[in-house]
Amino acid sequence: MTTTTDPAAAAVRSIGTARTRVEGRDKVTGAARYAGEIPFAELAHGWLVLSTVARGRVRSVEADPVLAMPGVLAVLHHGNAPRVESDFVGMLGVPPDPAAVVFQDDRVPHAGWPVALVVAETSEQAREAAETLVVHYDQEPHDVAFSAGHPGAYAPESAGYAEAAVEKGDLEAALAASSVVVDAEYTTPEEHHNAMEPHAAAARWDGGRLEVVDSNQGSTWVASELAQMFSLDPGAVRVRSEHVGGGFGSKGVRAHQVAAVMAATVLQRPVRVVMTRRQVFSLAGYRSPTVQRVRLGADADGRLRVLEHRSLSATSTVREFVETSAAAGRALYPADAHHTTHELVRLDVPTPTWMRAPGEAPGSFALESALDELAEKCGVDPIALRTRNEPDRGPVSGLPFGSRNLVACFEEGARRFGWADRDPRPGLRRDGRWLLGTGTAAASFHAGAGPSTAAVTAEADGTFTVRITAADIGTGARTALTLVAADTLEVAPERVRVRIGDSDFGPAMIAGGSMGTRSWAWAITIAARELRERLALDGTVPPEGVTVRSDTTEALGALSQKERHSYGAQFAEVAVDTATGEVRVRRMLGIFAAGRIVNPLTARSQLVGGMIWGISMALHEEAARDRNLGSHVGADLAGYHFAAHADVPAVEADWVDDQDPDDPIDIKGVGEVGIVGAAAAVANAVWHATGVRHRHLPIRPDRVL
Ligand code: MOS
Repeated sequence: MTTTTDPAAAAVRSIGTARTRVEGRDKVTGAARYAGEIPFAELAHGWLVLSTVARGRVRSVEADPVLAMPGVLAVLHHGNAPRVESDFVGMLGVPPDPAAVVFQDDRVPHAGWPVALVVAETSEQAREAAETLVVHYDQEPHDVAFSAGHPGAYAPESAGYAEAAVEKGDLEAALAASSVVVDAEYTTPEEHHNAMEPHAAAARWDGGRLEVVDSNQGSTWVASELAQMFSLDPGAVRVRSEHVGGGFGSKGVRAHQVAAVMAATVLQRPVRVVMTRRQVFSLAGYRSPTVQRVRLGADADGRLRVLEHRSLSATSTVREFVETSAAAGRALYPADAHHTTHELVRLDVPTPTWMRAPGEAPGSFALESALDELAEKCGVDPIALRTRNEPDRGPVSGLPFGSRNLVACFEEGARRFGWADRDPRPGLRRDGRWLLGTGTAAASFHAGAGPSTAAVTAEADGTFTVRITAADIGTGARTALTLVAADTLEVAPERVRVRIGDSDFGPAMIAGGSMGTRSWAWAITIAARELRERLALDGTVPPEGVTVRSDTTEALGALSQKERHSYGAQFAEVAVDTATGEVRVRRMLGIFAAGRIVNPLTARSQLVGGMIWGISMALHEEAARDRNLGSHVGADLAGYHFAAHADVPAVEADWVDDQDPDDPIDIKGVGEVGIVGAAAAVANAVWHATGVRHRHLPIRPDRVL
């Protein structure tokens, strides 16, 4: 048949209009199936067994009694599991996580290390057998105590995507020239991912192909690592992950997928492995605790001469991971001496990982609190202080900004929050037994894109199908991509169907680093543009449709070097109970410059979600480890507190006009910037309320009193 794109629709743009999720009805009616609930014929169930000791070796696994239990099919452990390859560098530029390459040797590097998988006919049988399984260990002394001044602290050579150390300018000279100095230590605790949907994967062999149904942040990533681990042709692995109940950096290649593939291989039947909530605390990565020293030196008017930020975080003995907290100021403020460095201490703990706004979330707490302290010392308004230190080029890189608009965020935020009426003096406002205060902080997060491929098909029935290995981890990415495709094709979004989460669609960027939607939108835009042009020349669509494919690798490679970030201004008002020490956030406002906003409805949810996480970080979240056992205390949602509905007031997020001129549709990223600075805004408000600085998170009642 003949199809046309509709020029009239071009006037009614979809980008920028608020749309509910295209899969929303499926999600709320239960029609959307998650990895843990997709049925397979002959499905067997694997249950992971985690080490109860914090360091040592597995001496023996008493598999026989468990194999005699009802329904039990296999017990996999280091003595019998298939050998896999781990000596390679994966899609994200690092070797696979050793905790994911399960059952390869007897070493136990931390409590909660996977030591066995029990497989049974039902999940309940697997669980009972797993809980019965006796594992003998040779225990060794362990160290899980993270603290400043740990004797093992060392400076890492690299910090992943950020430089580990940048030291520009003469620190001592700039300090000597400063009239005002703030020198303070801030700490943040170990914080944990708790996606609503725990990690789950089912694996099966289909002919010569391995098929995995998973919950992940990138099926290309998982498929390529599984292919390398199991020495398979990349085309012989298919990973699907259509609906994902949260990810935040934790849903990569982990023990459950690899264990499921091993079991499916050994048993030659489909096997599913689902992590329990408690297992997620040990197996899915987390945010390292930090100790951060910030030294700011400034002229009397607050103009910075010194920005020194040194961050200590923890890593494991099996892998190096740096929480890049000190990098937070590199794109924010200029100073004559700009020193930002990281140190690590290796402990007998699981390896930390990315967790929403890795680096910037804890880093901004320290840096933006220190700036508030500087504003206080200089007698300068905190917003004026930031405006005064606004750079015209990257403070460390010297590169031009893609787009910035941080000052515009503060101006709009100040106007809407009512900042102009604020009395800067602390501890003066009362509402009954409550002390009231307001605080602000800046936010920034890197905006980038990763190479992706997409295919856009004009179907014979006049609709369009987009295929891309995107992951919608709850962000609304799929809906945003629908709007992007519709606008480029100049059709109504109802005529566009976006299919995601299938590695067979070709390589694509992960949902991570706030880069997912931008990366995928770029690829879709290129393919859809070419398809529209082709259809304009010849609108005839054969029964199999007309498909155009794209690959952004070259376009991204040709991008000029710039400082590209999303920015924001956070505002919080708190009330502090002088009798109990309880801190209540009364309202919160965040104004962001995050590029063109594709779908205001879901973008706002992303930003608000980040801000709520910031409240949670400021007031509640803190994982506790038992030093003797080396394992968590209360690794569940009863013991690990985060902000519940009753803790969250009216949270408002909005944005200023902002475009990234180098992006085909002007977008940047909204994934992580919402949490950045949020905890500092709350902490600064607590100071304003009480006159007391809180430099250690969370700001628990016992710390307030
Ligand atoms: Mo995000 S921490 O890159 O999933």
